[in-house]
Formats: sequence, structure tokens, C-alpha cells
Amino acid sequence: MRLALSTWPEVEAYLETSKGIIVPIGSMEQHGPNGLIATDAICAEEIALATGTAHGVLVGPTITLGVAQFNLDFPGTVTLRAETLMAVIRDYVRSLVRHGFERVFFLNGHGGNIAPANAAFQDLYADASFRADRAGASPLRCRLRSWWEYEGANTLRHDLYGEDEGLHATPSEVAITQAAYPDAIKRVEMAKPARLSPGYYRDFGGDRHYDAVHHRHWFPDGRIGSDPSLATPEAGRRLLEILVPDVIADYEAFLAEDTP
Ligand code: NI
Repeated sequence: MRLALSTWPEVEAYLETSKGIIVPIGSMEQHGPNGLIATDAICAEEIALATGTAHGVLVGPTITLGVAQFNLDFPGTVTLRAETLMAVIRDYVRSLVRHGFERVFFLNGHGGNIAPANAAFQDLYADASFRADRAGASPLRCRLRSWWEYEGANTLRHDLYGEDEGLHATPSEVAITQAAYPDAIKRVEMAKPARLSPGYYRDFGGDRHYDAVHHRHWFPDGRIGSDPSLATPEAGRRLLEILVPDVIADYEAFLAEDTP
């Protein structure tokens, strides 16, 4: 069930049965020679919609822009500052709270969003925590889960692609976009990627990159240790299939958490 394709009476009726919603959040940035600019947003949206459709969960509009300043030296990348994304998340969540939503589950497709999203959640909780009357405790809870955190999907990624999975413009994420948009599949020849050192993962994992000129200097074609030419729509469908039961179990546990 998509919020964007629902009417207000339908949303009102949904709120009689559930206070939870899944919100896909991604990025609009280069994804190597054959990856679509919206790869991270498409992955988050496809996983969220597959889960929402299978289990009757409302899926909010995708936050398609994320924090991707480090990719601005590649044409097509559109970024928000961290503070702008935090403001977008706060206003999005406050709008939902106004209608009675209490559990907002962000399904994330982009490492650069993790720190600002979690910081925005802390600011939202602070609105309640700064109140002197404990009776005014807010029922709001937010969670951000990146799809590669699920063990099943992560194992499949590494079974399918091994070290060629890399860190960015991965064959797995490109595969999910190919399953979603078969008419937009791009075939591009590319050399094997340079291997990343353990120190690279330690220092730059989760998109903790320097500025855009540095980033393109180090990764001239936009890939970070990956070979996205290995992506297939079949692999994308397998990833989506394996993700849905894990996402719904995680979401339902989030809804069922104990409250004060
Ligand atoms: Ni990505």
C-alpha cells in the first residue's frame, strides 16, 4: 500500500489498524559506468514496496535525495547537506506524527544517510525529553535499517559476487535496479576493480569520504572496489525475495517493542 497512491480516508482507515509505516530513503548519485543515478533510492523503494505489498504495510514517499557531496564531481549527482537531510527527516516524521503514526521505519539504501538520520531521530526524541512532565512522553520511535544489514541478503551478496561486490556501485545494488527497471539496463565493459585494503573499509566505510575532487581522483570511474558489470536482473530478484521476510520480521519486532 503506497501512501502516494492512497486517499486520505484510506490512510485514516489504515491508522485504525496500525501506527506503523515504512519510509524508503536513498540517494541520487553516480553508481559507476553502468549503475543508474537513482540506484540507492530504487533499491530502498523496491524492497519497501515488495514488503509493503506482501504484508499490507503502508509505504511512505521515498526520500530520493541523500548526503552524497563526495560524488558531486560526477555529472548527475544531486546531494543534500547533512543538516538539510536532517531537516527533511524531522519535518517528514512530524507530519506523520500529526496524523497518529508512532513507528517510522526507514528502509535505507545509502551509507551517507546513516549518521544524519540517526542524529535527526535524536533531535525528534529530544523534543519530548526536554519536557518537564514525564506524562508527556512521546510515543514516537524511529528506526533506520540499511538493507545490507540483513544477514540473508549479505550472505547472498558475497556468495554471488565475492570480493567483486566492493563498497559502492556494487553488482548487488545494480542487480536490484535491473530487476526493477529492465528497460534501463546498461551494458558496459569494464576492467576488474582494484582491491580495497582493510584500512580503507575501516576509514571510509559508511561513506565517510573526503570532498568530491578527492573522491573522483581516487575512484575515477565511480566504482569503489566493485564490478557492477556482473549484475543481472535474476540476482536482483533473488535479493528482493530473500529480503522481504527479514524486513517484515524486523519491522514487526520494532512495532511490538515494549512501551513505558
Ligand atoms: Ni549505492
